[in-house]
Amino acid sequence: MMKLNELLLDWYDANARELPWRGERDPYRIWLSEIMLQQTRAGAVERYYARFLERFPDVFALADAPQDEVLKLWEGLGYYSRARNLHAAAKRVAAGGGRFPDSVEGLMELPGVGPYVARAVASIAYGVPAPALDGNQMRVLSRCFAVERVLKTPFDLETEAAVCLDRARPGDYNQALMDLGAGICVPKNPRCADCPLAPLCRARALGEPERYPLRPAPIPKREEPRTVFLIELPDGIAIRRRAEGGLLGGLYEFPSVEGHPDQAGAEALLAELGFAGVCVVDPLPSAKHVFTHLIWRMQGWRVRAERAPGGVLAADADGLRTRAFPSALRRYFEIALELADSHS
Ligand code: ADE
Repeated sequence: MMKLNELLLDWYDANARELPWRGERDPYRIWLSEIMLQQTRAGAVERYYARFLERFPDVFALADAPQDEVLKLWEGLGYYSRARNLHAAAKRVAAGGGRFPDSVEGLMELPGVGPYVARAVASIAYGVPAPALDGNQMRVLSRCFAVERVLKTPFDLETEAAVCLDRARPGDYNQALMDLGAGICVPKNPRCADCPLAPLCRARALGEPERYPLRPAPIPKREEPRTVFLIELPDGIAIRRRAEGGLLGGLYEFPSVEGHPDQAGAEALLAELGFAGVCVVDPLPSAKHVFTHLIWRMQGWRVRAERAPGGVLAADADGLRTRAFPSALRRYFEIALELADSHS
């Protein structure tokens, strides 16, 4: 019987998805695609990838850009620490002459490059025989081998991954597993009838492909009530930049606090934040945003104020559109745009 890697590559040669980074040789472009693809579907990445490369065609262009511009081009992709790390890594590579490291270990020294991205880039760009284990690969392999262990990290499948890897075409092999995991060996209702690995898949033989991978109980997400203030100042809507390093660091937001105060409480809190001449006008619609470990339950208030404290800027519609805001605030961002437009 044919081996897993042979079945997989035969399938890939006929069925590989057409994606803009396929067939790419430039390590910069491969690295960018793998950073964007972490936690994000290929379909969602395509547009961002093209736009990003148009603006930053090489690592020097990216290294020279202001961080706000990098974040702006990332807006909507989520997990913004990726963009900040990408920028930092570009600066480092550019300062070293522009050559990317060509080993897994070397790549992992770059900010934002973990074992998965390092192995993906090393295998695709340089043919290094390293299996890139992400959630998709883990699902496929755990099913093929009907692995009965709870898999906490990709390293728990290292042995199986090393055995299966195609050493002649590691980059294609890794991407073939990604495609199989994305389109065929999907979490629910896997399309086993179309799967090239069906002949050797133990989970399929057992009749229970969805049972694998066995997973630890999920960590419950913390719920955080938040209040978002759309504050109309004499010359625009109040915005501020979030602290570097934390959740959504470096992005812009509207002043906000934890908790759900009533109107009087909101006025008191705004005075505490340093706003003067505050008048809370109207409640705004509520909104919810689910992060990896956290849920924001947001309420909003429309507010007028005469003066803002330091660190708060007044933005007109252009000032809002040209800055990067998290998708978590989309609902309030749209209302803010309307308010700003009605003033101009
Ligand atoms: N997910 C992560 N890396 C990928 C790649 N190179 N192609 C398709 N999906 C991916």
